Amino acid sequence: MSDSKRYAIAVAGGGSTYTPGIVASLVTEEERFPIRKIVFYDNNAERQETVAKACEIFLQEAAPEIEFIYTTDPETAFTDIDFVMAQIRVGLYDMRDKDEKIPLKYGVVGQETCGPGGIAYGLRSIGPVIEILDYMEKYSPNAWMLNYSNPAAIVAEATNRLRPNSKIINICDMPVGSLRRFANMCGIDDWHKLQVSYYGLNHFGWWSAMYDDKGNDLMPEIRKHVAKNGFIDGMPADTQHADKSWYETFLKVRDVYALDPDTIPNSYLKYYLYPDYVVEHSDPNHTRVDEIREGREKFIFTACREVAEKGTAEGSRLFTPFNHSDYIVDLACALAENTLGRFIIIVPNEGAIENFDRDAMVEIPCIVGKNGYERIVQGAIPRFQKGLMEQQVAVEKLAVDAWIEGSYQKLWQAFTLSKTVPSASVAKQILDDMIEANKGYWPELK
Ligand code: NAD
Ligand code: G6P
Ligand code: MN
Repeated sequence: MSDSKRYAIAVAGGGSTYTPGIVASLVTEEERFPIRKIVFYDNNAERQETVAKACEIFLQEAAPEIEFIYTTDPETAFTDIDFVMAQIRVGLYDMRDKDEKIPLKYGVVGQETCGPGGIAYGLRSIGPVIEILDYMEKYSPNAWMLNYSNPAAIVAEATNRLRPNSKIINICDMPVGSLRRFANMCGIDDWHKLQVSYYGLNHFGWWSAMYDDKGNDLMPEIRKHVAKNGFIDGMPADTQHADKSWYETFLKVRDVYALDPDTIPNSYLKYYLYPDYVVEHSDPNHTRVDEIREGREKFIFTACREVAEKGTAEGSRLFTPFNHSDYIVDLACALAENTLGRFIIIVPNEGAIENFDRDAMVEIPCIVGKNGYERIVQGAIPRFQKGLMEQQVAVEKLAVDAWIEGSYQKLWQAFTLSKTVPSASVAKQILDDMIEANKGYWPELK
């Protein structure tokens, strides 16, 4: 191992289903990103302990030089660390259940991060994400927070508004997951070799150019593929996006693409452009969260218990690095070691998209190094995308206004303005149900 500095990582949301993957990536990347300590922090001691016990055994076998602790105490968690990798889910899957099922009762898209469900989740996430950021700044003022906690668009708007000078970068694993597919479509072994232009909001963006590492234009080949197959590319599914509903989402990209064949869309745009189709193909009693409870959650927690019972992680599929975990570790490494790699991240626009609000939080490629990120200018965007983005960014800003001001009116406006919602009256019905369901998580609205 190198003699350079070794880093300490706090994983906030230690009990997350994504935590074993992050630990696996940290260990795999140790050569270029040396680690001295990993701390898990969660406010649910029991959920975290199950994951932590398995990770402890894995770390002892794979990287005994790394100190490992897990705790529910903020001071212990956030003292003497270099990075916080956050992936909390405020309200757990029980509240995701409500985010998905309440809108569907009214014939509206029920989704974790899009439409009314995403707004509801946003109002739960803002407070606890800011709380973790404040703990980090109190106990380790030089640390960076890399935040996956969703809905990343609303969380990013809130952190930018409430803590504009904090060292936080909000991120999403969808762009990198898609890049991996594009590389595969073109027979390129490593997505890092792609040089791309991309603009949008989180879960609301478009690729406008893609080149390989020799500068060859990849768009003609990718367009042809997407027109025919969407994002289905015959690549062995990663563990994260292997379920039936994800397959359908990736196939539906064909129809999203058809609206603007000049660009390649983010797969999440289906919720805004084909909401009627999405609702028709949803089962109001069995949504994505049920698929996860029966799939990913069950797999992770059963596998963790197995590792603990056997006393060894050998042979366990738990500790497999994947997109999500590789991306956050890659980003931390760029900040720590000044790699100046290119990352698609969520940042204040500041003119990078020339004809769009300067203070909107946009998702664009940036160069990342020791001193943070430099935006790569995307220039002026077409009217279709600009129109959609202006409506959506207003939703996100109104949701944050509503949280800050405790305003029912602003939140009703946010719900009404979402392209997934047909009218102000439907917006009001969903909002009133959501207020009831989110008691104890939302600020009181006047
Ligand atoms: P999960 O419920 O399995 O894990 C979340 C953990 O966060 C739980 O252990 C929970 O107890 C903990 N938690 C909740 N509130 C907390 C608080 N205030 N302080 C500390 N810990 C808290 O959820 P998951 O499915 O593994 O997802 C985790 C998060 O990562 C979600 O927000 C999810 O949307 C997000 N995610 C984001 C991306 C992205 O692209 N940005 C990708 C994948 C997952
Ligand atoms: C993608 C998105 C994440 C989202 C996740 C949902 O990776 O980028 O923001 O949280 O999918 O996946 P799930 O399996 O929980 O539905
Ligand atoms: Mn995402």
